Amino acid sequence: MSAPPPLSFDCSGIQLDRARGLARQLYQALRERILDGRLQGETRLPASRELAELLGISRNTVGRAFDQLYAEGFVLTRIGDGTYVAELAASARPPALQPRSPAPSAALLRVQAQQLRLPASGAPRAFRVGVPAFDLFPFETWARLQARFWRKPSPARLGYGDPAGDGQLRELVAAYLRNSRGLHCDPAQIVITCGAQQAISLCAQLLVDPGDRVAVENPGYRAAGHAFAAAGAELCGVPVDGDGLVTAALAQLPDCRLVYLTPSHQYPTGVTLSLARRLELLAWAEVNDGWIVEDDYDGEYRYCGTPLAPLAALDRQGRVLYVGTFCKIAFPALRLGYLVLPVKLAPLFAQRRALDMRNSEIGTQVVMAEFIAGGHFQRHIRRMRSAARSRRDALLRDWPTNIPGCAAMPNVDAGLHLCVRVDSLQRETQLIAAAVAVGVEINALSCYWLEDSAVPEDQRAGLVLGFAAVPEAQIAEALQALRKAWDL
Ligand SMILES: Cc1ncc(COP(=O)(O)O)c(C=O)c1O
Repeated sequence: MSAPPPLSFDCSGIQLDRARGLARQLYQALRERILDGRLQGETRLPASRELAELLGISRNTVGRAFDQLYAEGFVLTRIGDGTYVAELAASARPPALQPRSPAPSAALLRVQAQQLRLPASGAPRAFRVGVPAFDLFPFETWARLQARFWRKPSPARLGYGDPAGDGQLRELVAAYLRNSRGLHCDPAQIVITCGAQQAISLCAQLLVDPGDRVAVENPGYRAAGHAFAAAGAELCGVPVDGDGLVTAALAQLPDCRLVYLTPSHQYPTGVTLSLARRLELLAWAEVNDGWIVEDDYDGEYRYCGTPLAPLAALDRQGRVLYVGTFCKIAFPALRLGYLVLPVKLAPLFAQRRALDMRNSEIGTQVVMAEFIAGGHFQRHIRRMRSAARSRRDALLRDWPTNIPGCAAMPNVDAGLHLCVRVDSLQRETQLIAAAVAVGVEINALSCYWLEDSAVPEDQRAGLVLGFAAVPEAQIAEALQALRKAWDL
């Protein structure tokens, strides 16, 4: 095997001041580079003549610098070959020099302060929260529509597109919301986003000034809270009871600019905001000149009764920003969602997106539009709803009823997850640790609370289980494993 080529020498950045001793300066410059690792062991230094020419100094000067480095063991000479940087013992190196960087901005510090927990990744397992049954997605149909688009894309769609999103998709989303939610909007009010999370983040970027108070459900969807906090908001947790967000507590918050909530299926407790509370909330926004961000992340999944009208459908004042997503009906990696905005805000949100990313990738938008127009979307929603319902039933049917410290299962009329209370934080930790040990994912309800909640710790405990991610057989296996792990 031939020896690896010698590492090459880079003398860029060596600047010598002719008013001072040149050999000393060259010695110091090379020594510094050897110590901080820019010149690694086995790097061949150029011949003294060559380096002298490169730096515009005499060969003698270079020789003196090399001699000093040699005397101190920083370089070695190999007869007939040249001068090489010596391998230094790790202890000879000073601790890595911290490259000096500018002081962090307030925005960087705010992001750093968020204790963000990323969602679980990898193939779904029982009882992963936040993912639908993507084993049922019609990938054949999707692939066919993709291939059809990319085989002969219209040149008009290949340049910079509309930052608000593909026009055809926005029209279809408007029609879908009209039919499925009774939400009447113009396609011009719709901005396509990279999932619900980007929609929420845009609201945070554009509606919040540093120091503004933003109300969030407590417990609630923490990634929304983080988005608002990263924009400089002061988060105010509002309790949630059986009727959803407690509007009376919201009314007690002075100077609150915006409320973010999940009215159709509160995340994570699963309750639905009552009609009376919906009306109170709209009145709050009017009186307080506030915004309501309505996150309808899993509105397609309702198993009995008709859904209540979204706040956006009841809003007469242009105060509600409605967030929707395709990621819970298709799969999260799709990254496709939308915002329905008050008329005046829509162009500004589109402008913000133009600054962020110009426009979303065209293929996914066009294929989703075709998917909807061809009736596949509605068919898929029905399939997903029915699968989620029977997966819910499998979990409720076989869930052990005798778990010490664990409340009874709630009624589950909507969504992809459920939440069951546990009587102490310690018990929550025990149950989850034992589940994790047998490969079953369960989220801790305690993680959904704001850090500075006034609610006593033990009242924050519970288990949050997603029931839609895997088929019934895997749910049964996971429950079997839990019975053993929990000694039931
Ligand atoms: C309440 C809630 N809102 C929004 C999202 C984000 O959805 P998306 O994947 O569309 O960004 C999630 C994801 O789990 C969620 O639970």
